[in-house]
Amino acid sequence: MARPSPNATAAPRLIDLHPAPADLRALVLQGMDRQPRQLPAWLLYDAEGSRLFEAICDQPEYSLTRTEVELLQTRGTAIATAISNAISDTTATAQRQPAPVVLEFGAGNARKASPLLGALAPPAYVALDISRSALEATCTTLQAAHPGTDVLGVCCDYGAARGLPPIPALAGRRRLGFYPGSSIGNFEPHQACALLGQFRRLLGPTGLLLIGVDQPKAVERLEAAYNDRAGVSAAFARNLLVRLNRDLQGNFEPEAFDYQAHWQADHSRIAMALVSRQNQTVQLAGRRWVFQAGEALITEYSVKYDPAAFLALARAAGWRPLQRWSDDRGDLSLHLLAQAESP
Ligand code: AVI
Repeated sequence: MARPSPNATAAPRLIDLHPAPADLRALVLQGMDRQPRQLPAWLLYDAEGSRLFEAICDQPEYSLTRTEVELLQTRGTAIATAISNAISDTTATAQRQPAPVVLEFGAGNARKASPLLGALAPPAYVALDISRSALEATCTTLQAAHPGTDVLGVCCDYGAARGLPPIPALAGRRRLGFYPGSSIGNFEPHQACALLGQFRRLLGPTGLLLIGVDQPKAVERLEAAYNDRAGVSAAFARNLLVRLNRDLQGNFEPEAFDYQAHWQADHSRIAMALVSRQNQTVQLAGRRWVFQAGEALITEYSVKYDPAAFLALARAAGWRPLQRWSDDRGDLSLHLLAQAESP
């Protein structure tokens, strides 16, 4: 039976570590000086970008989110059993071990955490995100749906945090990291490896990680997923220019750029770009930038890993595989990992 929580109806509990705001101007200048020009993918997610991304997840061509939620729903019990077995295998005592606390990296979408919390019934769930408003929304939804779990948000930059503050809900408990959505694919492989290493540090030596990874599939399906007929993916990319105009005093004309999404087999990734329709000069961050007709500004990469490629990356970051679940089409995998050096 679910334990009643004192927080079930109250506003979600939040610890704000006041992460330093990114130096947007420096990052954009750096990206605009690259060849080809490329900006960090997280810049896509202002309020309008986050809304558009949610709309992408509902497009018929973009099945990643639906596939992952369904996998978490249908395989939830098997995943909970594998986690429980992994914990018992490394514990000296024969007593049944309590479920680990769940730490989600990012607080994008309660749809993915909810089936996991339902299957695992952890004593606590902690979402880490740089956006206070995203944390508040996700934690409110999850606390109402899972009154037996203590739900907490920590406003921080989990990619840079050296550690977590002493949080009573975490004390003395094993940690399960949760990183769904194949967001790992939006990092270039060396950055993805560094992030997986950072997760190891935040989860501690006995930590486990459950991570969703999108896989290569037919090129037509991949390209359609990132260039939906309704034009939501294109609007999502063009919104980056609107954001830059607002935040760095730019004068981009979003419609003077075509949106393109192509599969690059050599890198096993979709490259998304805004391509200049003509020769043009743009003002941004106090400088003038010339775009030749056909010149691309890369807005995002989405790397697709087959299981072997992903496990090579995970091993390089100090993780070892425990188990993997996939949908019938082999579109996406959920990998359960343990620390390579764990007892
Ligand atoms: C968040 N991330 C996993 C998405 C992806 O599939 O790479 C971002 C995205 N960009 C356009 N469509 C989806």
